[in-house]
Amino acid sequence: MQHIVFLTGAGMSAESGISTFRDSGGLWENYDVMKVASIEGWYENPDLMLTFYNERRAQLDKVEPNEGHQIIAALEKDFKVSVITQNVDNLHERAGSTEVVHLHGELTKACNESKTKVYDIGLKPIRPGDKAEDGSRLRPFIVWFGEAVPMIEKAAALVSKADIVVIIGTSMQVYPAAGLIHYARRGVPVYLIDPAEEVNAPSGVIIIRDKASAGMARLKEEFLKSEAGRGSASSLK
Ligand code: OAD
Repeated sequence: MQHIVFLTGAGMSAESGISTFRDSGGLWENYDVMKVASIEGWYENPDLMLTFYNERRAQLDKVEPNEGHQIIAALEKDFKVSVITQNVDNLHERAGSTEVVHLHGELTKACNESKTKVYDIGLKPIRPGDKAEDGSRLRPFIVWFGEAVPMIEKAAALVSKADIVVIIGTSMQVYPAAGLIHYARRGVPVYLIDPAEEVNAPSGVIIIRDKASAGMARLKEEFLKSEAGRGSASSLK
């Protein structure tokens, strides 16, 4: 079974109604990224950060996985599928994907300040003054700018084993996530689905200039055709 590794970013969830960060009208136009998404921001104004992530978490109740998420999940019938996402929403899981690596954390989790204890909180808000068991402040389980990205090694190992890599809806501006593509083995096809006129992709990447759902619908057909071809070739042997 071929192994497809997906690298997804905010554009993956855009059609579900979740804003991206850097597009026009994106979240970083309305919020100061360092105030709501950096470890310094947490020390300066934790209440503002709690409110920001409480709003993001509450929004999860109002959105649904889109067709793109669903196609990725359905590909598990014919392929080994791993999803590595920069997204903190749970839409891949809700669509049915069973292996999802969250590089930048998860909205439905909270943790203590040293990030050694993680709690499932679902869609509940974290309130100012909420404490973890060790007495430290309870905080969103998010990887902020200035923090380590503990899942990067697992993600790099997955990309290095992939037979096919598909990047969807990321501006590839945030490292180390943007560097993962370099772990793909030589000769492995790398696709990028993004509707933007200009994309930030190394040469050799096959660009599908489309939204996540339409781009995935096209790719799915291509993948299933080539998998069927492989199947009939091996049955002739
Ligand atoms: P960006 O907002 O930087 O990029 C979103 C990308 O999605 C752009 O390339 C868009 O063209 C594309 N896009 C928009 N609509 C789309 C659609 N319907 N289908 C497919 N693509 C679409 O988001 P990320 O690259 O994910 O981190 O941002 C990376 C990180 O920066 C985030 O995880 C977050 C942010 O700061 C933290 O907060 C730590």
